[in-house]
Amino acid sequence: MSRTEQDRWRDLRADVVALYRANRRQGYAPWCDAEFDYVCPSADTYPFQWFWDSCFHAIVLSHFDGERAEAELRTLLTNQRADGFIPHVTYWTAAQPPSGPYQVAGSSPWQSASMQPPVLAEAVDAVATRGRGVAYLREVLPAVRRYYDWCDRVRDPDRDGLIAIVEPHESGMDQTPAYDAYLGVSGDDPAAFEAAWRPVAEANALAGHQAERIFAADRFVVEDVAVNVLYAENQRVLARLLGEAGEAGEDEGAALLTERADRTVASLLRRCWDPSDQDFHGLAGRAEERLPGDTVAGLLPILLYDVPSEIVGRIARRLADPNDFGTRFPVPSVSRRSPAYRSAPVGGTVLWRGPSWVGTNWYIARGLRRHGAEALATRIETASLELVRRSGFREHYDAETGHGYGARGFSWSALVLEMAGASP
Ligand code: GLC
Repeated sequence: MSRTEQDRWRDLRADVVALYRANRRQGYAPWCDAEFDYVCPSADTYPFQWFWDSCFHAIVLSHFDGERAEAELRTLLTNQRADGFIPHVTYWTAAQPPSGPYQVAGSSPWQSASMQPPVLAEAVDAVATRGRGVAYLREVLPAVRRYYDWCDRVRDPDRDGLIAIVEPHESGMDQTPAYDAYLGVSGDDPAAFEAAWRPVAEANALAGHQAERIFAADRFVVEDVAVNVLYAENQRVLARLLGEAGEAGEDEGAALLTERADRTVASLLRRCWDPSDQDFHGLAGRAEERLPGDTVAGLLPILLYDVPSEIVGRIARRLADPNDFGTRFPVPSVSRRSPAYRSAPVGGTVLWRGPSWVGTNWYIARGLRRHGAEALATRIETASLELVRRSGFREHYDAETGHGYGARGFSWSALVLEMAGASP
């Protein structure tokens, strides 16, 4: 790093430390008799603990405060159910009324009954690597293992290695146009999405949030590409961590997780990749109907080491093409080729329909590096840093102008710290 780069990195780190101080939430929750200490996604819009956000926050914290990084994940694991499930939101300080908005539909007023992209193993990896190493791994891996066993046992009823989500927000990419036709919704009107989501949430609530009953009803069941790429990657990471922790019996665990990851990747390539349009597609319902592509989810497979070079080449070309994903401020969440593409959000809370997000940029840049596409990776990292410099830590950004939208002081956008060369 040159001197100016070092200064810039120090400034960025100071901004991130300040943001994580402001968004820190600490206290005691009588409803579960536990202390909590986590970073909320945004003080105004998202004051509670969200699953994949929290994993990203732990990764960011691991760069400057190992104790808080551990506390973030400890807090996330506090209310893990005995069967391994971890909810997508924990409302630490404010019980949600049963008739609250659809996102909170859950069997408890304090927690949702949904999952989110399973990125826990990566967070544990970062916290262990920059912190207490094997000692930390030995403490947390049993819980982490239980979580991935839950994913496998409960969310993969057809045993193809792909896990299924049962509500749109479980993908973490809430209003992605990939689900439009399946949900019978189109356009940018938040009320239309609310109307399309509500019956799904109500049916799931009526089914007691029991996965088997939800699968039997076959109302909204999606083997989502992004969720499964992250599932595959995290199973691989967990397999490695189990090996590193080196406890008796864990070799078997590592082998099992590797086998499961292989199956997930094989199914992504066999069932979700369509050679005719050269894109990945989510699969809907028992009939596994192919959902539309042209979203950022179809680029995420570049994260996987075992994706064939033709697919890597295709994804790299799409990222470089200004008429596809190569906008001035990449990576748009939807391709410019798609009629659903809007560079900026149109309808307030309607998300993931074009603007760029730091979280997906972080994955794509890492994936490009894994496959030797350094220049393209640098372009995405530089653009991400510029977004934050120009517009601050926002939830998402106009893919063409870089203008920031959505939540302010949005914690996961601090992942730019990783992209600024902070990672080992
Ligand atoms: C939005 C995003 C989701 C995120 C949540 C909290 O719902 O789509 O991915 O976890 O906000 O930041």
